[in-house]
Amino acid sequence: MRILAIESSCDETAAAVVEDGRTVLSSVVASQMVTHGKYGGVVPELASREHLRAVVPVVREALDLSRTRLADLAAIAATVGPGLVGSLLVGLTYAKSLSFSSGVPLIAVNHIEGHIHAVIMEAGRTATPVEYPALALVVSGGHTHLFEVRAGFQYRLLGKTRDDAAGEAFDKVAKLLGFGYPGGPIVDRLAPHGDSSAVRFTFARMKGNALDFSFSGLKTAVLRWVEAHDMGAAIAARRVLLRGCPQPDDGQWLAATPRRTLDLLASFQHAVIHELLTRAAAAAETMGARTLIIAGGVACNSGLRRAAQSAALPYPVCFPTPGLSTDNAAMIAAAAFPKLARGEFASLEIAAQANLTLAQVG
Ligand code: KG4
Ligand code: ZN
Repeated sequence: MRILAIESSCDETAAAVVEDGRTVLSSVVASQMVTHGKYGGVVPELASREHLRAVVPVVREALDLSRTRLADLAAIAATVGPGLVGSLLVGLTYAKSLSFSSGVPLIAVNHIEGHIHAVIMEAGRTATPVEYPALALVVSGGHTHLFEVRAGFQYRLLGKTRDDAAGEAFDKVAKLLGFGYPGGPIVDRLAPHGDSSAVRFTFARMKGNALDFSFSGLKTAVLRWVEAHDMGAAIAARRVLLRGCPQPDDGQWLAATPRRTLDLLASFQHAVIHELLTRAAAAAETMGARTLIIAGGVACNSGLRRAAQSAALPYPVCFPTPGLSTDNAAMIAAAAFPKLARGEFASLEIAAQANLTLAQVG
């Protein structure tokens, strides 16, 4: 049974065809990185326009690559939220119109559930499938959430960020230091060249839910450190580099980055990873997790992967492959498959929901 899925919640226009919830026949992603890179972050209006331009060719390519006709589909899935409302609207409206014209039923998928299902789908093809209850740490540019995942895909929110998401912290710190957007991949590549114990960052104790996160203080601490260490000239030089070359390679970045900035990046990344894994381990212990799922764009981070694998946790840790970590539509098709089996179809009246929480769809 084939599902065509469309994802357009932020700044990637993506379409995929997945068979039986496990075999990815095609997965096409049109990134808007170059468009938003100039502004150091996603510009919602430009994102909607880019989605409009890309959605038809991206869907066509996903169908062509998988040799699928609309008549072969069991369902058409689309992300309904959370995300930028103008971006969501483009993918969802196109999915509705395809569903209406072809008679193939529509399935609405929560973007966060998609990230979790990317991992469940891939782990399902290995010798260590996800066991329940599982703990899911969803870390992306928009989310830092801990969910208990029970058998049958029931979710309970255990903790979340009270301010910036982890990926947002990577992006903001990178921007502050004159690196491009998105910052996470650049920090990831440069951090191993610095000393992660050079700058000690501390996190305030959380009042209330001890499983909540807060990353805005860390960003401010980086700013204070930058102000105290006279780094302005090097930051300005990197901004000039970026204007001449939108995506410098590692050699160019390293030539423009003094040792103490590399130490700062390494220490910042270490602090984020430590914070994520400490709270995830505490949550996993509280609920008796049998698998730890780490999903979302920040799950690409090689330092996070290394730290999680070497932490000798008493349960397996499952990460998505990089192509399924950042936004893609195969994860939306994977999340739609159990809904197809349960006959959970969406009405063509369904609206995009910018602030959708997990457990509201269905
Ligand atoms: O899941 P995603 O593509 O979009 C959202 O749903 O937000 O995640 C994008 C985020 C960005 O903040 C980006 O900087 C971060 O994931 N990211 C990384 C890495 N690759 C992407 N953060 C740290 N290390 C990486 N290697
Ligand atoms: Zn995402």
